[in-house]
Amino acid sequence: MKKIVGRHVVSAALTVLAAVAATAHADVVGNATAGQGKVAMCIGCHGIPDYRTAYPEVYHVPILGGQNAQYISNALHAYKKGDRHFETMHAIAASLSEQDIADIAAYYSSQTANSKNNPEK
Ligand code: HEC
Repeated sequence: MKKIVGRHVVSAALTVLAAVAATAHADVVGNATAGQGKVAMCIGCHGIPDYRTAYPEVYHVPILGGQNAQYISNALHAYKKGDRHFETMHAIAASLSEQDIADIAAYYSSQTANSKNNPEK
């Protein structure tokens, strides 16, 4: 129960952040083609259907393909800043530039269930 309440607080915080991030990064335009070349390191975890990690706890890795670009961008900014806590994602997000995040968000948001590059979702 405690965990569920925590998640709601996090999503509420993300919604507020979304508004802030949308204004702060409005000048960076994502390029889906460039993004495709930047997701190689994401595929290992995010591209496997129903993938779960086993350590340190069992959890699902969210599917990113088809996700809203602003949502992906916000999530990466939150990991980068440490507002959203997940060690691996923090390390990865911290290594991404504003342009990388915009490109990756554009790439993933352009994916659909029928996309040709499905293995790279
Ligand atoms: C080592 C495995 C791993 C790698 C590599 C990885 N991720 Fe993640 N990612 C995760 C896990 C696990 C979560 C869920 C963490 C959580 O609960 O906050 C996650 C969460 C996310 C989220 C939030 C999704 C949501 O629905 O809230 C985004 C966006 C994301 N990752 C993007 C990326 C991008 C972009 C890359 C490559 C640059 C990447 N990840 C690489 C494991 C990984």
